[in-house]
Amino acid sequence: MEQLTVNASRVYDIFIGHGVRDLLSEKLSALFGKVKVCLVCDSNVAPLHAKEALSALEANGFSVENYIFPAGEQSKSPDTLFSLLEFLAEKQFSRKDVLVALGGGVTGDLTGLASALFMRGMHLVQMPTSLLAMVDSSVGGKTAVNLKAGKNLAGVFCQPELVLCDLDYLSTLPQKDFADGMAEVIKYGVIADSALFDLVKDGDVQKNLEEIVTACVRIKRDVVAQDEFDTGERAKLNFGHTLAHAIEKKSGFAVSHGAAVAMGMVAVCAIADANGLSDALTLPAVKAAVEANGLSVTSPFSLPTLYEASIGDKKRSGNTLTLVLPNEIGRCYLKTVSLDAWKELLATWT
Ligand SMILES: NC(=O)c1ccc[n+]([C@@H]2O[C@H](COP(=O)([O-])OP(=O)(O)OC[C@H]3O[C@@H](n4cnc5c(N)ncnc54)[C@H](O)[C@@H]3O)[C@@H](O)[C@H]2O)c1
Repeated sequence: MEQLTVNASRVYDIFIGHGVRDLLSEKLSALFGKVKVCLVCDSNVAPLHAKEALSALEANGFSVENYIFPAGEQSKSPDTLFSLLEFLAEKQFSRKDVLVALGGGVTGDLTGLASALFMRGMHLVQMPTSLLAMVDSSVGGKTAVNLKAGKNLAGVFCQPELVLCDLDYLSTLPQKDFADGMAEVIKYGVIADSALFDLVKDGDVQKNLEEIVTACVRIKRDVVAQDEFDTGERAKLNFGHTLAHAIEKKSGFAVSHGAAVAMGMVAVCAIADANGLSDALTLPAVKAAVEANGLSVTSPFSLPTLYEASIGDKKRSGNTLTLVLPNEIGRCYLKTVSLDAWKELLATWT
């Protein structure tokens, strides 16, 4: 088992390993005492994993409720958020109680935002069950729901107080969703860690999962400690994401986040390559790693047609957009371009 500590506006521990779910009751007692727990899950995760968690909590003297919402990105919405808040009010939760997000990134983002909003803030624990949530969304405190205009447009920064990352949950994760998580893993390798990239580039990852997840979380932890509120360095974690969010939005969320990140990373590497903005080996290496991990390298939309959707992204500021470009595998830089220059860069795609 690995233990990492995040030093942000809240200081909290992340436990990574097989069986760390068994720590839940003990850690909740130590952090909050015998509070009331609302376990939030989607409709796929609930039948697989909720009962075990609820029984363990009840056996340890916690009073529990379970809020279940329909699985999928469409649920990361103001409607589901307010339905969860109404549930908490109806069940008479208070500020000293705790929300536990047991699920993927959708569950984590939604629950995190609800924890910040309900009575102006209640306790939050993240228990990620998808690879993507383990390596990315459960750590760092970005919470949000989507608006009609785009992804993650209504949210707050709200760090959890504990993250329990039990790798055993991955045994029930469908292969396609596992591949989605690998897109974010490849991202960390490209932007910050060539050794991690080498470890995952052939797609043979099962035997090194604890090492891989820990390496990703360590990078995220360090970036968050340096730039919690995303005013500089943290933007590097958005490598591939401007185009990914545009692809997700234009597809009506039929393309999943991880799949879109894979396409977005390849596309931005292709743009960098075509314009002499990265080293010549990066594009083929990223493409090969994406394919080896069961992800598509091809956006269903031509890049010039993604311009409108891409400028609705949060990375836009006035008439400029900040791009994350790889120098080489393991190193990246930020480049702010005008919207006109961005349009021209998209047009260089073939
Ligand atoms: N907050 C952040 O910093 C951050 C970072 C990256 C991504 N995100 C967000 O995360 C979301 C994507 O996360 P995701 O890919 O986990 O999506 P998700 O939560 O929809 O999970 C993907 C699918 O896997 C299922 N699932 C999850 N765990 C399972 C398990 N153990 N067994 C069986 N099925 C399981 C879910 O039910 C769902 O069908 C997006 O909304 C994205 O914007 C947030």
